[in-house]
Amino acid sequence: MAPNTGILGLVLWTSRGDALSGSKTSSAAPDVFLSCLAVDIPHRLVHTPASSSYAEHLFSSIRNLRFVAPDTPRPLAIVAAAEPKHVQATVRCGRRHGVRVRTRSGGHDYEGISYTSLDHHERFAVLDLAAFRSIRVDAPRAEAWAGSGATLGELYFAIGAANRTLAFPAGSCPTVCLGGHLSGGGFGALARKYGLSADNVVDAVVVDADGRLQNRSTMGEDYFWAIRGGGGESFGVVLAWKLHLVRVPETVTLFSIRRSRNQSAIDLITRWQEISPVLPWDLYLRVVVDKQQAYFVALFLGSCGRLHRLIRTRFPDLGMTQQDCEEVSWVQSTVFFAFDSTAMPLEVLLQRGNKRQSYVKAKSDHVQVPMPRQVWESTWARLERPEAASLMLEPYGGFMGSISSSVTPFPHRKGNLYQLQYYSEWFENGSATLKKRMKWVRDLYKELEPYVSKNPRAVYVNYRDLDLGTNKLEGNVTSYANARAWGEKYFKGNFERLAAVKAMVDPEDFFRNEQSIPPLPTATLWSPI
Ligand SMILES: Cc1cc2nc3c(=O)[nH]c(=O)nc-3n(C[C@H](O)[C@H](O)[C@H](O)COP(=O)(O)OP(=O)(O)OC[C@H]3O[C@@H](n4cnc5c(N)ncnc54)[C@H](O)[C@@H]3O)c2cc1C
Ligand SMILES: *[C@@H]1O[C@H](CO)[C@@H](O)[C@H](O)[C@H]1NC(C)=O
Ligand SMILES: *[C@@H]1O[C@H](CO)[C@@H](O)[C@H](O)[C@H]1NC(C)=O
Ligand SMILES: *[C@@H]1O[C@H](CO)[C@@H](O)[C@H](O)[C@H]1NC(C)=O
Ligand SMILES: *[C@@H]1O[C@H](CO)[C@@H](O)[C@H](O)[C@H]1NC(C)=O
Ligand SMILES: *[C@@H]1O[C@H](CO)[C@@H](O)[C@H](O)[C@H]1NC(C)=O
Repeated sequence: MAPNTGILGLVLWTSRGDALSGSKTSSAAPDVFLSCLAVDIPHRLVHTPASSSYAEHLFSSIRNLRFVAPDTPRPLAIVAAAEPKHVQATVRCGRRHGVRVRTRSGGHDYEGISYTSLDHHERFAVLDLAAFRSIRVDAPRAEAWAGSGATLGELYFAIGAANRTLAFPAGSCPTVCLGGHLSGGGFGALARKYGLSADNVVDAVVVDADGRLQNRSTMGEDYFWAIRGGGGESFGVVLAWKLHLVRVPETVTLFSIRRSRNQSAIDLITRWQEISPVLPWDLYLRVVVDKQQAYFVALFLGSCGRLHRLIRTRFPDLGMTQQDCEEVSWVQSTVFFAFDSTAMPLEVLLQRGNKRQSYVKAKSDHVQVPMPRQVWESTWARLERPEAASLMLEPYGGFMGSISSSVTPFPHRKGNLYQLQYYSEWFENGSATLKKRMKWVRDLYKELEPYVSKNPRAVYVNYRDLDLGTNKLEGNVTSYANARAWGEKYFKGNFERLAAVKAMVDPEDFFRNEQSIPPLPTATLWSPI
């Protein structure tokens, strides 16, 4: 059933030892926990601060330098698991001995909550799934099984190698892993045609809160619904996913057209807001505003000639020419979205390395009414500051607007023109830079409030933002009332159903983090969908 993949890793965190110095039970817990693990997990896969391999495993997939500061809560140990039973043992031992589990696949969480905690006293383990990365493509059936620790790049490469007319809709960053990405939705250049990654998951293997292995037929449809977009961590540990692969032409067409302010960038963006969501489903036309340039980037499931005619009719002001086109295979287009170049070999998709050492802060919005031109004027003025973030405008419509907002937990469907991401990335280590960068993002977010979705101000869970609020306890479980503040922004009307599923599958709230789904036992499930 489950692809039996390489190594499974578990990471245990402590806050530099002093969190353990409290009561007798708390200092005893790591030892008994570790002894419990030792029954099922080989010693070499468990890395504690005492072992020399600890730092290497700890930092192997920390992708945001905001969370490497010395006062960041550290794990008690890192356990690199290799088989499903290692994950099961970790969950069971954690529950028995009061050590929480944080699951990490690619470590790309914007707020680092797959490997650290805001609570310096929390005793927790980080279960690292980097080794659950096998991918099996069944081209004749247009299906694939892939491990949570597989990167998007590895998946794209494997599909491309199997069949040039198959693809999978997912995001652009090749080192993001399936574990977190599919748990939160997964948006990319095929979303207008085929929806999110989560919309194309047909089965999964999960370790539940009791340490049992479940698949779609054993877990039931409510549980299966929740893991496809309800956000990572809350419902268990997903080991592998069965994916429905989609059809693409042998050749697709790309362009990237750059316009600066003196080339009508502001007018073009203002127009783009209305044009892009109603283009044919085969055409995805995003805008990235970076360093005072607007990049209009397209993926078209067709030829250059057809694309050119389409843009000439629907968006003539863009001034596209046939020279802007590049016709490539779909898998080569994923290299383009990842590295901004089609000249690189496909093998770059396989690089898992952690070369890009940077600090990141992001936020997101959904836009339902085009923002007036003067709002883009004032936003552009902010973009001219040195501490400015990039803005990424992702068109909706097409498939995204065609299905009900409760089919999966991701609720942002009909009525949205596009998603706006504020993405700040910087390299200088310094608190002044950090403050300025964070402030820029928060200020623009505040300024745009009148122009974006309201009640709730809807945001995308994979662009995690702890500014929206964090969990509090009520008794011994996470408070539902408190969590609604951020939960309904991520999930709108689906939040209550997610909380009902949580009450069913993890009533004691073992899988918990700063923004995990709280259990709401009184809510009614709607099963089957
Ligand atoms: C540079 C960059 C580009 C991005 N581009 C896109 C994009 O184009 N489209 C898009 O939609 N998103 C994009 N994202 C966001 C990305 O989808 C999320 O950050 C995603 O959650 C990362 O998954 P991960 O496994 O790498 O991260 P992790 O940090 O490992 O996990 C994220 C969350 O999921 C939980 N989790 C991880 N694995 C599992 C599992 N196996 N079972 C249960 N819970 C799990 C973690 O505990 C954590 O809460 C981008 C992020 C970055 C940093
Ligand atoms: C799901 O698990 C059950 C019980 O282990 C097994 O009988 C069934 O074949 C599995 N289904 C799939 C699709 O793997
Ligand atoms: C590729 O996959 C499609 C869809 O499954 C199939 O029709 C086609 O024959 C496959 N082509 C090759 C070369 O395998
Ligand atoms: C437009 O602005 C860019 C910088 O953004 C500058 O390099 C270029 O010379 C300007 N072009 C014109 C025609 O003013
Ligand atoms: C940033 O600087 C602080 C203080 O000098 C230091 O402790 C920290 O390790 C540095 N972080 C990085 C990523 O270099
Ligand atoms: C949580 O609290 C409830 C009510 O006080 C209690 O019945 C239950 O056993 C507690 N659960 C745990 C895991 O402590």
